[in-house]
Amino acid sequence: MAELHDIRHRFPGLAGGWARFDGPAGTQVLDSAIDAMADWQRSGNNANAHGAFPASQACDALEERTTATMREFFGAGSGGIVFGPSTTANLMALSRAVGRTLGPGDEVVCTTLDHDSNVTPWVLAAEDSGATVRMAEFDGASGRLATGAVVDLIGPATRWVAVTGASNVIGTMPDLPAIAEAAHAVGARVVVDGVHRTPHVAVDVGALGCDVYATSSYKWYGPHAGVMWMADDLVDDLPAYKVRPAPATGGARWQYGTASYEALAGIDAAARFLLDTGMDAIEAHGQNRLKRLLAGLHGLVGVRVMASTGPDDVDDRAPTLQFLVEGHAPHEVAGHLATARVAVWDGHNYAVEAMVPLGLDPEAGAVRAGISAYTTDEDVDRLLGAVAAL
Ligand SMILES: Cc1ncc(COP(=O)(O)O)c(C=O)c1O
Repeated sequence: MAELHDIRHRFPGLAGGWARFDGPAGTQVLDSAIDAMADWQRSGNNANAHGAFPASQACDALEERTTATMREFFGAGSGGIVFGPSTTANLMALSRAVGRTLGPGDEVVCTTLDHDSNVTPWVLAAEDSGATVRMAEFDGASGRLATGAVVDLIGPATRWVAVTGASNVIGTMPDLPAIAEAAHAVGARVVVDGVHRTPHVAVDVGALGCDVYATSSYKWYGPHAGVMWMADDLVDDLPAYKVRPAPATGGARWQYGTASYEALAGIDAAARFLLDTGMDAIEAHGQNRLKRLLAGLHGLVGVRVMASTGPDDVDDRAPTLQFLVEGHAPHEVAGHLATARVAVWDGHNYAVEAMVPLGLDPEAGAVRAGISAYTTDEDVDRLLGAVAAL
């Protein structure tokens, strides 16, 4: 399969010479996304939508263009595209609306593999409505969320299933089509937190079978923003919290106030880059760097990679992992790596339910390293060398 070559010059933020493994918390931004945002701000088109003058019409055109790009990116023939400040904000808006349709006796299934932005919004909606949240548990040893662990909790009372597309700490990807099929069989709807999945594999909401898919463009080389796809009936019919003049239908119904047009310009450019580059090439690049990183870490005495049997345990995994170094707290390891100009995160990274099953301290968590489209073998080797020096 094709691989990525020579794309690092497209990321001005890499000029500092750091090995950046902090992509799961936010990637470096692509040159064309930076330019699109700056060009927009300079253009004089900064206005507001639905006006009678050209700058306003340019705002409408930008929103239409970015919506079309995101539809293509999601493989979505229909449905609405919602732009918001973040996925957490988008999922809060969704769960708040869904909460108005729930009552005592209704159930929402969440998972322990998820980032908290796809758990707490549902817990809050359940608290407000009298509904119940049931937690499907992943297996800490393999890092896998078995389909059965979710399906066993789905029953006639299930209204929604909230599941991650990929763990933001250990990368594992649940079998979404199988989960969606079981949910739909009882009339429940499925919301996928696609934030960690989207930068690494192609998205096809039809093939996944979900009803809502949420992602954040700052994880895929664009600006800080959230983008959410919703099935037609949900986008138009769920009782969204909205002000009266806001549109009655479509994605804009869910947007709180004026869109960030500069962010739309950047989202459009970043999504175009992924489409033009090809997600197959990005996936292959990630998998190969992941294998190298895993082989190196598994070969180091005193290093433990969480929920990983070895370098070949990469199927259905985004190229993201967590590890511990014996005798050193995760924060200490991250600080040591920073002295070697290697950027990693430590802690729970908001995957708050996942730490204990992985055998980790709930707060200290582990060291997280994530591979991005610009990660090189030299980056991987620098990380390995710095860990070995501990
Ligand atoms: C898997 C996952 N879901 C949700 C989020 C939250 O995204 P946002 O910061 O856009 O709210 C993150 C952020 O790290 C994430 O990794």
